[in-house]
This record gives sequence, C-alpha cells and structure tokens, in this order.
Amino acid sequence: MNIDWISGLDDITVAIVVLLLTLLAIRLLQSPSNVPPGPTGYPVVGSMPLMGRGNPLDIFRTLRAKYGDVFSIQIGSTFNVVINGLDALNEAFVKNADKFSDRPDNLAVQDYLRGKGIGASSGDHWKQTRTFSLMTLRGFGFGRKILETKVKEEVTEYLDVIEGQKGQPYDAKELTHIAVSNIICSIAFGSRYNYSDKKFKHLTALLNENFRLNSVNGAIRQLPWLRYLPGDFFSIKKFHRNGDQIKEFANDQIAEHRESFDENNPRDFIDAFIQQQKKYGQDHPIFEDNNLAAAIKDLFSAGTETISAMIRWSILYLLHNKPVQDKLRLEIESVVGTSRLPSLDDKPNMPYYEAFIMEVLRMGNIAPLSVGHGARTDIPFRGMVIPKGSVIIPNLDSVLSDAELFKEPKMFDPERFLGNDGNVIGQKTMAIAFSLGRRMCLGQSLAKIEMFLFITAMIQRFEFIPENPERLPSLEGIVGLSRTPKAYRFRAVKLH
Ligand code: HEM
Repeated sequence: MNIDWISGLDDITVAIVVLLLTLLAIRLLQSPSNVPPGPTGYPVVGSMPLMGRGNPLDIFRTLRAKYGDVFSIQIGSTFNVVINGLDALNEAFVKNADKFSDRPDNLAVQDYLRGKGIGASSGDHWKQTRTFSLMTLRGFGFGRKILETKVKEEVTEYLDVIEGQKGQPYDAKELTHIAVSNIICSIAFGSRYNYSDKKFKHLTALLNENFRLNSVNGAIRQLPWLRYLPGDFFSIKKFHRNGDQIKEFANDQIAEHRESFDENNPRDFIDAFIQQQKKYGQDHPIFEDNNLAAAIKDLFSAGTETISAMIRWSILYLLHNKPVQDKLRLEIESVVGTSRLPSLDDKPNMPYYEAFIMEVLRMGNIAPLSVGHGARTDIPFRGMVIPKGSVIIPNLDSVLSDAELFKEPKMFDPERFLGNDGNVIGQKTMAIAFSLGRRMCLGQSLAKIEMFLFITAMIQRFEFIPENPERLPSLEGIVGLSRTPKAYRFRAVKLH
C-alpha cells in the first residue's frame, strides 16, 4: 500500500484525524450493539451532509422505507432515534410513557432555561410545572367564557387592521403573530397591548427573531462547541442577547405584579404563580422566578408560531379552494348570521368548519417532527436498545401523510372528515397533530378556541382572493422548528 500521502500531511491535521477517529471508536464502543438501524454517517458530522440534501420529511420517508418504523440517524454529536407510524408511536409514547416522556438535556439553548419551565424540563420538575400550568390556564379560561371574551377582543382588532388594507394585497404574517402573542399576554400578564405599543412591538420582534434563529441554532445542539467560535457566524450570541431581553421583560412583569398583588384576586398566570410562591417560599424549585420566566417563555414560543401558522395555512388553502371557502361561509352565515361574531356555542353546529380545520392541521402539518424527547437511560424497544442520551423524534408526519389512513393524502379534501350523515369523523386519528402520550400539547384547547374564533370571523367578514389568480401562492412549507407557509399576499374584500 502506498502511504506517501500520510507523510504529506502536517502534524496538526494528523493529530485532528487521530483524535476524531479515537472519539468515534470510543463512541462506538460505548453504544449498545443492537441500536435501531440507520445510515452510516461520517466522523464528527454524522449524517449532516445527508440531511443537508433536502427536506427532512422526505429524507425521513426514504429512511423509513429502507430501515423500518424505528430507525436511527447520527447528526453531529447527537444520536437520534426516529419513531414512525401510529403503532410504533403508540407503543413508545403511550404504552411505555414512563420511559419516553423526558426531554433531551440540551433542548433549551439558553442556560437559564435549561431543565426549567414546561417544554424543556423532565422528571418531577416537569410534572409539577406542567400540572400547575395546566390547572392555572384552565382557571384563567382554557375552554371557558373569560378566554372567549379575550380572544374575541383580539379578533375584532385583528379584523379591523385587515379591513384597513381595503382589499389591497397584504401579507398578514406580522399582524397575525402580534395578535396571537397578545392572547398569551392576556393570559400571562392579565392585559393585551395596543398593536402600536413600543414595548410590546419590541417583545414580539425578539420572540420572532429567536424563533427564526432557533432553527439556525439547531446547529449548536448538534455541534455544541460551535458557540465558542469567535464572532457570531451562527447568531448564537444574538440569540442569547435576545433571550436575556425576553427574560428581562418577564422579570419586569413579575416585579410589577408583585407590587400590585392581591391574595384574594389573582388576575393572571403570574399572580397564580406568586400565590404559590407565598405558600412555598421564593426559593422553591418550582415556584422560583426563573421557572416562572421559563414557563412564560414556553407559552409564548409554543403558542404563537403554531396558531399564526395555522391561520396563514387556512387562508392559503382558502385561496386555493374557492368552493371550500364558499361552503364554509354558507355554514357560518346559516349558523351565526352576519350581525355578530361567531362564538364557541356555535362550534358544535359547524361540522364543515371542523372538517376544514382538521384537514388544515393534516396538510399544514405544522409540527411534523413534534418536539424531541430524550432517553434518560438505555431503553429496550422492539428488540432493540435506544441508547441513553439519544434524542427520540416522534415523526407525526409519518401518520398525517399515511396513505393507508388518508386516501390520496396529498389532496386537500375536508370532506374526508365527514361521514355519510354529515357528522365529523377521524378525530381520534387526527389528535396526533398535537402529539401523544403524557407530553401531548398543553395548549390544545386554547389552540382550538383561537383557531375557531379567528378563522370563522375572518371568513364571515371577508372574501379571500389571490393577489394573482393566474399564479397562486406556493403550498410548500418551510420546515424549521415548525412547518410554516412561505410568505404570500392575499386580498381580503369586505363582504358586509
Ligand atoms: C394548532 C396548534 C398547536 C399544535 C399543532 C401544537 C402541537 C404541539 C406538539 C406536537 C407538541 C410536542 C409534544 C411532545 O413533546 O410530544 C406541543 C407541546 C406543547 N405545546 Fe403545543 N401546539 C399547538 C398550540 C399550542 C398553544 C396555543 C399553546 C399555548 C399555550 C401550546 C403549548 C404547548 C406547550 C407548553 C408544550 C410543551 C408540553 C410539554 O413539554 O409538556 N401549544 N404542542
């Protein structure tokens, strides 16, 4: 064998190669041998080059066809196990919920959020924070009239801004984000903000930017040492600076609430938290300020982009499907009329809306890979072992696009969710859009209320017309932390 090329390498390169090979060997020796099958990656970067080749959902479909319902993929330093199909998902996240309900340690990028709040914590801390949050949110209106009033207030302001465009082409992305974050403001801080309020505009800009950067920042979870590079090539320092300002905003709110706190009249999420602090002390691991700030940040990040994307996917599908838009409007006019806003009491009488929103949830597919779970220990599963430290990805897309469950899955067809008697069918399967098991979306009821009140009110007041009927906006999604529509403009022509 000719080894002359080795002598041509400088010492540093040889040292790096030896180090990388040693790390790889250590990793291979540490891993159990019967891990789920998957593609062989490269040292250090794993299958990053493969993932860079296209849409992750298509790549995962190809890998599933080759390796089966449970496959693995090494990306950077993270060993990922992807679970596909209704059966395997149920077996893992429902039947074996005890082992499959944790988060990976590095889910929260910022140090003060790590292991805190609802979305990124695990074990007992997560259980207690989630239970407290759910109970408090219920108290403040999940499924209740108070919330309906708050959302309707927001809907009215939102519709007025759209009406103000006077049917001219308009991109509603920023407005929708602001309106939807304002609902979380109402729940968490007790009041909504004017759209022109400087402080509020700054907060929503920070939240938006960090949501966008978090996709780019995915790299720091896979290759954590990137954050120590000089400069800010991956905007990681910017991400941290923004995060500190969001925390400051939350801290200001907590301080203001503390000053005006009335034990007998809790006004919102923060007051409910302060009530517990008074009972258990400010150093209690669940009821300390950092955990409150993290929980508030979770509500904003999980509750804004998702609903905003759903509203924008809905408009997009209405632009593409005029008969669906007409049929929805007919249902709204016959059940609600045109002189008042739709209310939650109307919802049970509107099966076509229900079928429509289920189809938007399916095709919009806004959380296709859910949020990663984490293996705290080696987990035996289907004759294999998911090694400790793996990120476990619930591939919800594998169900929502399953041709066995949904005939012609690429077609937008709300009627698939209506039985012969006109009643809604398929809710049980579609619940998967909010994930499954103990970590299933905490905001599901709020989401359903918001989507209903926003979307029906919009269809009631406006006809949606494409900016250019010859060239309809793209239905392709941008897959980052969630799956969102590409930017587009539409005309909203006032009807009444
Ligand atoms: C259509 C809208 C929404 C969809 C499709 C959706 C979907 C999801 C999914 C797939 C997860 C991950 C579950 C898992 O880890 O397996 C999740 C978690 C979560 N969602 Fe939603 N979500 C939506 C709206 C909301 C809203 C409005 C809120 C507002 C409060 C919210 C709050 C949360 C929280 C706090 C978590 C973390 C739960 C935990 O880790 O225990 N979501 N959601």
